[in-house]
Amino acid sequence: QTLEMELAQIMKGPYKHFMQKEIYEQPESTFNTMRGRIDFETSSINLGGLKAWLPAIRRARRIIMIACGTSYHSCLATRAIFEELSEIPVSVELASDFLDRKSPVFRDDICVFVSQSGETADTMLALNYTLERGALTVGIVNTVGSSISRATHCGVHINAGPEIGVASTKAYTSQYIALVMFALSLSDDRVSKLERREAIVQGLKLIPSQVKQVLKLEPKIKELCKTKLADQKSLLILGRGYQFASALEGALKIKEISYMHSEGVLAGELKHGVLALVDENLPIIAFGTRDSLFPKVLSSIEQVTARKGHPIVICNENDEVWMEKAVDSNLETLEVPQTVDCLQGLLNIVPLQLMSYWLAVNKGIDVDFPRNLAKSVTVE
Ligand code: AGP
Repeated sequence: QTLEMELAQIMKGPYKHFMQKEIYEQPESTFNTMRGRIDFETSSINLGGLKAWLPAIRRARRIIMIACGTSYHSCLATRAIFEELSEIPVSVELASDFLDRKSPVFRDDICVFVSQSGETADTMLALNYTLERGALTVGIVNTVGSSISRATHCGVHINAGPEIGVASTKAYTSQYIALVMFALSLSDDRVSKLERREAIVQGLKLIPSQVKQVLKLEPKIKELCKTKLADQKSLLILGRGYQFASALEGALKIKEISYMHSEGVLAGELKHGVLALVDENLPIIAFGTRDSLFPKVLSSIEQVTARKGHPIVICNENDEVWMEKAVDSNLETLEVPQTVDCLQGLLNIVPLQLMSYWLAVNKGIDVDFPRNLAKSVTVE
C-alpha cells in the first residue's frame, strides 16, 4: 500500500468510498454551512463576505447565476426562492452556453458563480467575460483561495469541507443552503417577506437532523437497487417546480456514477412526448412531496400508472394519498420528512445520492474515480 492509499483509507474512516462518507457527512456539512451565519432566535442572516455589497446587489436589475453540472443544479434549485424574496428577475446559465452565445452583460448586472472546486474552466472563463463588462460578481465556492473565489468581488464560502468523490454530494446541499441564505439576505429589509423568511430560517434549523433521518432509508434503497432498478437500460426521474432541479441532479448522479442512462424530466412535459417511453418495464422515480404543485404532480404520476408504469415516489412521511396508492396501483414509496417547500430539495436529493452510489457499487464501479471524469474540469 502506498502512503497515499494508507492516508486515503484513514480519511475514509469506516466508509468504503469517499462518496459514501460525503453523503453521510451531510448532517454536519449542512450545519457547518449555516454555523455562525444564522441567528435562529432573531431569524437574521450574517454573510460576512457579502455584507458590504448587499446594498449594491439589492439595486440590481437582474441576477444571472452561472455554473456547470451539479453546481448549475443548485442554482436551478434556488432560482424561485431568490426571485420570490428579492423580487429581482433571476436567470440561470450553463457557463459554456452563456459564453457560446456571448450573452449581453451590463454594469448593473449581478453575476453569481457557483463552483465547488473554484477552478472549473468554463465557469472561470464566464467570470472573466462578465468582469470585462463591469458586472458585480459573487462567488459561492467551497475551496478557499481558489481562482473563482479570488477573482469575484465578493461571495460566500460554503464550508462543506474538502469533497474528494468525483460525484458532488455534500457540496450540492451546502451550495443550496448558501444560496438560500444569500436570498434571505437580499430580503431582510422587506416587511412583506418577514413571515416567509421566518418559516425558511426555522426550516433551515431542522435540515441537519432531517437529513440524518433520510439517511435511514439506505437499507430500503439498497434493496431497490438490487431488485427493481438492477440491470435497467434507463431511468426517468420526474419533478416540477422546486423538484425539477432534484430530478436533473438525481439523473446526473445516476449517469456519472453508475453509467446507467437517466433523464430528469419536467413532470408537466410528460404528455408532450416523454410519455411514449412509459411502459410496465421502464423504471420511474417521481418527486411527490407536498407543495403548491402537488395536485399537478399527482396527475402526472397518475398518467404514468395508467400506462402500467410503476413509479417509485419520493413522498412525505405518512402522506395518506401515497399510502393509499401504494396499495392499489403497484407503486413504491420512499418517505422523507416534510420541510418548507423551497428547502424540500435538500432532503429529496439524498435518496438519489444513495441510489446512484449503490447502483454503482453493485456494478463493481470504482465510485470515487468513475471513468472519463475528473473532480475539477480545468479544461474547456
Ligand atoms: C458533479 O457530480 C460533477 N462532478 C460535475 O458536474 C461538477 O459539478 C461540475 O464539473 C462543476 O464543478 P465545480 O462545482 O467544481 O465548478
